Amino acid sequence: MGDKITVPHIQKMKQRGEKISCLTAYDYSFARILDEAGVEMLLVGDSLGCVVQGGQNTLAVTMDEMIYHTRAVVRGRKRALVIGDMPFMSYQVNKEQALQNAGRFLKEAGAEAVKLEGGVAVRDSIQAIVTAGMPVMGHIGLTPQSVHQFGGYKIQGREKNRREMVLRDALAVQEAGAFAVVLEGMPMDLAEEITERLTIPTIGIGAGLHCDGQVLVIHDMLGLFDDFTPKFVKRYADVKSMTSGAVKEFIGDVKARKFPAEEHSFK
Ligand code: KIV
Repeated sequence: MGDKITVPHIQKMKQRGEKISCLTAYDYSFARILDEAGVEMLLVGDSLGCVVQGGQNTLAVTMDEMIYHTRAVVRGRKRALVIGDMPFMSYQVNKEQALQNAGRFLKEAGAEAVKLEGGVAVRDSIQAIVTAGMPVMGHIGLTPQSVHQFGGYKIQGREKNRREMVLRDALAVQEAGAFAVVLEGMPMDLAEEITERLTIPTIGIGAGLHCDGQVLVIHDMLGLFDDFTPKFVKRYADVKSMTSGAVKEFIGDVKARKFPAEEHSFK
């Protein structure tokens, strides 16, 4: 399958013009499948607050929960770069708090990088984490932890002044030393401009095809989660229907005394 993916490897991919693939993973079994399929980066996203925990948004996710899931993902991957997502209020207080919690992802869970949301506002925290030797992926645009400030999951950077703010955030994240940045929920021409101006890779979600890479929530792309489906999601499978079909067959077999058969039984 090839060499272990590292931070320098991801950065070289941009220089070579190779597109980068990233998917979320929250447990051992999925991490193994995605890793064996060849995805370059596994993001243990705080989106688990919605797709695993059933929350309305990501705000309730805790550091301990993120460490638990990241540890499981790390056990399941051999090659992909594992990035732990810093949950709401694990880095916003000050750079000392950010540094300590970033350290937990690497020390307790075995992640190789962390991701945090924000640009200019978190510049010092990114810098502190990077200076301590921990790679950081930034995340700007429609940052889900700011859902209440945005008044919903709204595309960011459409108006001229908001566009300039997003651009400033992108530059701040790069200057602070991030190795890559997620561009979420923004017009594709803005993502294109950011991708051209930055030397670090941009990883898009709802940001069009000009980004250096793309990330999707695994439950969205497999059709496992259908509480709501953003426009930017492409469904590559309908695993919910497959699962439901299999479960109905199992129930039918149990009721009809067809399962377990001889081959599933012991003598
Ligand atoms: O939490 C998450 O899964 C994310 C990605 C969708 C970028 O932040």
